[in-house]
Amino acid sequence: MPGLIVVGAQWGDEGKGRIVDLLAADVQMVVRYQGGNNAGHTVVREGRTVRLHQVPSGIMRPGVLCVIGNGTVVEPFSLLEEMDELAGFGCDLEVLRISRAAHLLLPYHQVLDQVQETSRGTQALGTTGRGIGPAYTDKAARVGIRVEEMLRFDAFARHFRVVAQEKNRLLVDLYGQPPLDIEAMLERLRPAAERLAPHIADTSLIVHQALRRGDRVLFEGAQGTLLDIDHGTYPFVTSSNPTAGGACVGTGMAPGEVGGVLGIAKAYTTRVGSGPFPTECRDEVGEHLVREGVEYGATTGRRRRCGWLDVVLLRYAARLNGFTSLAVTKLDVLTGLPRLRICTAYRCGGTVAEDWPPVGYSLADCEPVYEEWPGWSESLREARRWEDLPEAARRYVERMEELVGLPADLVSVGPEREQLIVRRSPWRT
Ligand code: IMP
Repeated sequence: MPGLIVVGAQWGDEGKGRIVDLLAADVQMVVRYQGGNNAGHTVVREGRTVRLHQVPSGIMRPGVLCVIGNGTVVEPFSLLEEMDELAGFGCDLEVLRISRAAHLLLPYHQVLDQVQETSRGTQALGTTGRGIGPAYTDKAARVGIRVEEMLRFDAFARHFRVVAQEKNRLLVDLYGQPPLDIEAMLERLRPAAERLAPHIADTSLIVHQALRRGDRVLFEGAQGTLLDIDHGTYPFVTSSNPTAGGACVGTGMAPGEVGGVLGIAKAYTTRVGSGPFPTECRDEVGEHLVREGVEYGATTGRRRRCGWLDVVLLRYAARLNGFTSLAVTKLDVLTGLPRLRICTAYRCGGTVAEDWPPVGYSLADCEPVYEEWPGWSESLREARRWEDLPEAARRYVERMEELVGLPADLVSVGPEREQLIVRRSPWRT
């Protein structure tokens, strides 16, 4: 089967963008299946950094068809900005298709996200403030506006006015905010709709036909398993399903067409925003990881929280997603740490368990149980083959493979395209 799903195994920011960019050299199509402009996929090429938010990472490879699937929420203004930036970088945007059934993320969603976060006070979720939660709320409440509606702008404007008036009542009466100028928003939306119109398509059909032809199709998730609204650290999650099942729902691919699931995991753990994080290091180890890994969010610039590798979470992710193999990223960031720790189990509710906390407990109740491994001091940046890595680095990855029960097909040792060790192809067919 020619469909390969690429999923973040942790709390996002695992480096999916650069792995998709690499795999896209050998595919006909890349499809984004959930999330919106909360995502930030960093791709470094020839020393230049490109940050992708809504456009699939395949855009960096000429000739690859790039699809924004129905499971995403599309913010038209930032998408157009991103398209302009990519065009300036030499990318061909003709290959971009946007699902007719994707929901629009509109200006009132972003304002609502921000005022709702503020009103939560100490209970804030630490969202990206992009409007993701309110946009998916409207979709579930069946008051959302879909991308296809922009094709008939007068009808779109009538629908928009009704929804926006209701949002204004919420903003004024509940949150004490000034109302948004509905006609001014529509004035900005009209040219945006015109520019996006040629890209709007029946993408579930396009994906289906490609899979039928035997084309290789990559399904690109945003965020990560532990930010999944159903399986993540609720309520400190995003409002969509980054897990592999989300690739079917979010694109129209039938489950039987999934050929493999590649889990992307950093060699350590990070998260942005609030919520439990058992292996978090608030000491010099955390400082080292932030500094060496340049751990700042691609979308908001926020400093990421950093900690040791947690294989309890990786096993959980492997189970939920059905990973067929792993890509381990940022191994080079561990260089210089004399001892490395790997969390293999949790102490929780008076017992030690190697799985997700039992019913009645959450990750916040878990204390990590660690094993220790020797570190290495050599730079890994020049390694291109497995044998080039120092023995301690190989043993660390092998231990990770053993504990998760999956092979690490790819190991990245730096941000540049070529700083990668390919041990096996993740395409199993
Ligand atoms: P939202 O997706 O903006 O609603 O934010 C919900 C949670 O998901 C917050 O903790 C965010 O920091 C986190 N989040 C959203 N997008 C990303 C991402 O691309 N990488 C890492 N964390 C993210």
